[in-house]
Amino acid sequence: MSDKVVLAYSGGLDTSVAIRWLKENYNMDVVAVTVDVGNERDFSSIRQKALDVGAVKALVVDAKELFVKHFILPALKADALYEGQYPLATALSRPLIAKLLVDAARTEGATAVAHGCTGKGNDQVRIDVSVNALAPDLKIIAPAREWGMTREETISYAQGYGIPVPVTVSSPFSIDENLWGRSIECGVLEDPWVEPPGEVFTWTKSPGEAPDSPSYVEIGFEQGTPVTIDGQKLDGVSLIQKLNELAGGHGVGRIDHLENRLVGIKSREVYEAPAAMVLLQAHQALQGMTLSKEQLRFKQKVAVEYADLVYNGLWFTSLHRDLAAYIQSSQRFVTGTVRLKLYKGSSSVVGRKSPSSLYSYGLATYDKGDVFDQSASVGFIHIWGLPVRTQAQVQGTGSLEEG
Ligand code: ARG
Repeated sequence: MSDKVVLAYSGGLDTSVAIRWLKENYNMDVVAVTVDVGNERDFSSIRQKALDVGAVKALVVDAKELFVKHFILPALKADALYEGQYPLATALSRPLIAKLLVDAARTEGATAVAHGCTGKGNDQVRIDVSVNALAPDLKIIAPAREWGMTREETISYAQGYGIPVPVTVSSPFSIDENLWGRSIECGVLEDPWVEPPGEVFTWTKSPGEAPDSPSYVEIGFEQGTPVTIDGQKLDGVSLIQKLNELAGGHGVGRIDHLENRLVGIKSREVYEAPAAMVLLQAHQALQGMTLSKEQLRFKQKVAVEYADLVYNGLWFTSLHRDLAAYIQSSQRFVTGTVRLKLYKGSSSVVGRKSPSSLYSYGLATYDKGDVFDQSASVGFIHIWGLPVRTQAQVQGTGSLEEG
């Protein structure tokens, strides 16, 4: 009897070829596992394709709720944007896929797991490091990292074994999508000077073709979790799907990022993430109203650390647990509603309110309700400026000419 390997199967060319290749090169029986993280696709035909190509078993796991609860919402509460631009859709899905591969390997009695990542990207790192943390005994096989075939060679390998080559392989783009966003790489995008052609976008309207009148949307949060749209309560999956459609319809959420990969390569990445960008923006606006200045300053630093950690595949670490606990704790009063205006590719916060708001009209107003004691500012400024005066007297202030 052959050993079993559980393969993360997307239904695309590479992982289909991998089913055959694992049989030929490792003499292993392949159990295909396809994880649904919100990439709307025809999962029953993907499953059938795995079997047709030679998998001994093919499973589809609906992981949308797990993905939202344990990955997307914590990343939203963290304000996680890698290098200030990328909301980490692909990166967040990898530790979950790794966990589900390990679970399947256990139930199927497999000795190895496999995935279709190449040896140049971040995804191999995220999956391998996660699998190793969860199940150090499992062998990891990455066929596309080992086989050394070019795209053309992979296609003729497929043809040689009667593996259907999808028409989409004529598309030069490599695409990964889930609820939190769509990642697009390769083809003409590899020239960072070339504007992404319209055809790469499928979730977002071109801003020029977006409606001529804006949409307003109100997002309600409870302790950092978005729970309503325009007052209507929605579960996390539906809320994100709805916002992807709404904001995408206004051309919101396109990102063009020259990104630093963990493996040292600079790479041009294009993303569509309408719901993610709008939710991150709304969440930050609500935090601006409900957290102190010091909390906001500190949380920004945590956000950078958190995004790097997720990007770099370090999900299953103690540092992650510690940061996640801080982030969760910081959300106690992040409850309220944010109103946004979506218009021709842009999303702007135009209103916010919260029962725990730290904004005080009486302190802020210049009108007659003013309760701020302006005379107290004199003493405050005297003390605040003390070290400035002291240093200026002893060491000077530098002149504008000195530069
Ligand atoms: N650059 C992004 C990341 O590292 C997206 C990767 C997309 N992956 C893919 N297989 N197309 O997370």
